Amino acid sequence: MSDSSVRSTTRNGGEISHPLFATLYELSPQGFLLAPHREYLADDLSGRVLDLGCGTGDMFPFVADAAGDDLEYHAVEPDPHMRTRAAERAREVGLPVDLRGDRAEALPYPDDSFDVVLSGMVFCTIHDPDAALAEVARVLKPGGEFRFLEHVHADGWQGTGQELLNPVWKRVAGGCQLTRETVPRFVGHEAFSVAEIERLEFGIFPATPFVRGTLCRRRGGLVG
Ligand SMILES: C[S@@+](CC[C@H](N)C(=O)[O-])C[C@H]1O[C@@H](n2cnc3c(N)ncnc32)[C@H](O)[C@@H]1O
Repeated sequence: MSDSSVRSTTRNGGEISHPLFATLYELSPQGFLLAPHREYLADDLSGRVLDLGCGTGDMFPFVADAAGDDLEYHAVEPDPHMRTRAAERAREVGLPVDLRGDRAEALPYPDDSFDVVLSGMVFCTIHDPDAALAEVARVLKPGGEFRFLEHVHADGWQGTGQELLNPVWKRVAGGCQLTRETVPRFVGHEAFSVAEIERLEFGIFPATPFVRGTLCRRRGGLVG
């Protein structure tokens, strides 16, 4: 596979940069826990697909395995340390990826340009998740799918523990927040209907529980 099959560009000003987190993320032993959920995200992908905040490219092997002939894969990853590893991973698994350094809050694509947008543990970290969700709605074609796997704010004592830990956690975990209320944010957005959503009690405290699901971009005019 030639280098030209991974296109990497950086736009939109200041970069997010967490070299230590990028190294630790790549070495993390979480892979076997996440594998079935990555298979869900990658299932039967076709057309133009965007991987939001692709990190070190952990989705790429799953996408390469499940890809149809007409797949055109794009990814954004603003952290250059993550992005370099993602480019290497794409080459290793033979997945052509148009990889860019933009943030989810300001995607460099026209309206209605993707069939599927994927998000794997990204809405915990994005600085402005409402702006990012509006961008997902904008770039998805009507009827297109937003597939996600995200860890969210827990209930009860675990939720209280997350609130206490969050100030330290976000410093050591590349900006990841433990207390994001991602389900109401997603379910309440008028540009989407919920195809499926499931709460998953896997993972290790404090980054648990998870939600996994698919939203469909409504047909008709976009709001906002
Ligand atoms: C926990 S990692 C998840 C990586 C990957 N999606 C996966 O499934 O393993 C979160 C990623 O989101 C990226 N990120 C942070 N802020 C972002 C933003 N505003 N837009 C897009 N990605 C962002 C981080 O650099 C990091 O690579």
